[in-house]
Amino acid sequence: MLEQYRLENKLLRERYESLAKDYNARLPDYLPHHTKVLQPFVGFLNKDFGPGARVIDLGCGVGLNSCILNKHGFNVTGLDYSKNSIEHAKQNCPNTKFLHTDFLDWQPEEKFHGLVAGSFLDKFHPELLPEVFERLDSLLVYKGYGLMYVPTSKEESQKVDGSYNKKQKYNPYTALLERDNWLQHISKHFKVLEYYPGYGKRDFFISTFQKR
Ligand SMILES: C[S@@+](CC[C@H](N)C(=O)[O-])C[C@H]1O[C@@H](n2cnc3c(N)ncnc32)[C@H](O)[C@@H]1O
Repeated sequence: MLEQYRLENKLLRERYESLAKDYNARLPDYLPHHTKVLQPFVGFLNKDFGPGARVIDLGCGVGLNSCILNKHGFNVTGLDYSKNSIEHAKQNCPNTKFLHTDFLDWQPEEKFHGLVAGSFLDKFHPELLPEVFERLDSLLVYKGYGLMYVPTSKEESQKVDGSYNKKQKYNPYTALLERDNWLQHISKHFKVLEYYPGYGKRDFFISTFQKR
């Protein structure tokens, strides 16, 4: 499954390379919305670990969430397999560390107080999700915090990045799960702290959680 996924995922990866410039141009428009989405997570981290907390931003793209978290004083690392996105991210947030690697190949050297997975977990085949969640679990320190958000409809996914595009096969495996499926995955490893739909009537599932 992993090997087949990698093969299929090559198309999505190439797509992100070509999307990076567009994404980057839209970054200022997205900042207010994402600042709001990150707020509860930022509050939890500040309360328990303080402003120096280590945070990993998985699938960081051009660095939207990384920049916001960096401004809050956290010690942020962004990770993405799109080289072009990482180049933009480095310019957008010069004081932040960025890793250009596939999450599935990454061997982390340290644990984090927080992790963000923004429009990222839906990029994996549903059968890979148990392994992906194992990896998320192993990234966090005891009582560390996580924030995830994903689109929950084809239309929303299409708006985010066009990744659900059967005709052009960018990513035929996009994991468009229902809210309850995501909750099941999260609660196998973590304590769910809160979950809510997207702001502005968007079909999103957003959740904060904590390592038990
Ligand atoms: C929809 S974008 C989300 C960007 C940002 N997190 C946000 O919320 O705006 C998804 C990002 O995940 C990255 N990505 C997808 N699968 C990945 C993988 N296996 N390893 C690393 N990055 C991946 C893509 O390159 C892309 O930049």
